[in-house]
Amino acid sequence: MKIALLPGDGIGPEVMDEARRVLDALRLPGLTLFEGDVGAAAYRRHGRPLPEETLKMARKVDAVLMGAVGDPSCDTLERHLRPEQAILGLRKELGLFANLRPASVFEGLEHLSPLKPNAARKLDMLIVRELTGDVYFGDKGRREAADGTHEGWDIMSYSETEVRRIAHTAFRAAKQSGQRLTSVDKANVLETSQLWRDTVIEVAKDYPDVALDHIYVDNAAMQLVRAPEQFGVVLTGNLFGDILSDLASACVGSIGLMASASLGERQTDYGTFGLYEPIHGSAPDIAGQDLANPLAMILSLAMLLRHSLGRTEEAEWVEGAVQRALAAGALGRDLGGNAGTREIGDAVLAQL
Ligand code: NAD
Ligand code: IPM
Ligand code: MN
Repeated sequence: MKIALLPGDGIGPEVMDEARRVLDALRLPGLTLFEGDVGAAAYRRHGRPLPEETLKMARKVDAVLMGAVGDPSCDTLERHLRPEQAILGLRKELGLFANLRPASVFEGLEHLSPLKPNAARKLDMLIVRELTGDVYFGDKGRREAADGTHEGWDIMSYSETEVRRIAHTAFRAAKQSGQRLTSVDKANVLETSQLWRDTVIEVAKDYPDVALDHIYVDNAAMQLVRAPEQFGVVLTGNLFGDILSDLASACVGSIGLMASASLGERQTDYGTFGLYEPIHGSAPDIAGQDLANPLAMILSLAMLLRHSLGRTEEAEWVEGAVQRALAAGALGRDLGGNAGTREIGDAVLAQL
């Protein structure tokens, strides 16, 4: 089994260190770890955010574990040189179109959520975000406008093929968990969304046992906070999924708790090839201060064990250890406590 570790920037290396300690403690036989550069760290060392060596490494392993990329000092670079291009490039080049972002409150930890306890207890959703299309990957640019000032554009588009394959991912997940499927779009305004909705309705014919509904993204944001129990599997596009998943993480308690898996179609000897990362970024405001919550990173490792290595038991051990560590009070500043990054890692290791 081979895993590539890509720590990246800001708090990325800090939370990666804790995930690595958890992985070491599992003592998986026959596991080889590789480490590669991405983001601003890679730009400084190689002159580009996603070096060829890193991409090659990602192609030869069973799974990639990524920290985060992004650095304010790079925000004025030409776009193709910015750290964020590393993660966008990996997703696109590796065909990782299905981003799974589970948001649920661990039993007994409802008090960590800003929602009313009764609503928090019922929050148990899986966001299925399309990851390699939408306005993220359309043509973009700037030009002179008719009045002599500038204008910028980014084209939003989805092909039926792209919508169909992510819809199948979401329907399969809903069928497996027995939850309803809610497709989130903006079909009242966007033609891209109308095609999205029509395609989802077509795909639904293959899944007669799955209850399906459609909701506009603005209403979805509101309903998620008001009554999250309405949602089970949530299927949505790249941009809406990005925004709704940060919102969902706040409902759980902190963005420092929310993990993700990005999957495609490639199978390995042990499961599905994937890239795993917390949904948060490099958090430059708290980097280097032992303030980052490493649990989203550690929970991303659990997803890697389950989906790419077929290690369900170990994944459950890690998730159980995280839950017990939180219950025992391993709360970082993001959750109203004062435990540091290393201290939270220690608490998980102690429970493991
Ligand atoms: P962010 O997620 O980095 O931070 C948002 C807020 O949440 C900050 O106040 C931060 O301190 C806090 N936060 C984030 N993760 C935390 C953790 N584990 N523990 C405690 N607090 C945490 O988002 P941002 O500030 O909008 O972006 C910062 C940089 O990260 C930008 O360059 C952005 O492009 C990049 N980014 C990268 C990824 C990725 O690598 N997948 C994701 C999002 C943003
Ligand atoms: C995420 C991030 C990325 C995204 C950025 C850094 C490109 O916000 O993984 O959620 O928008 O997909
Ligand atoms: Mn995001």
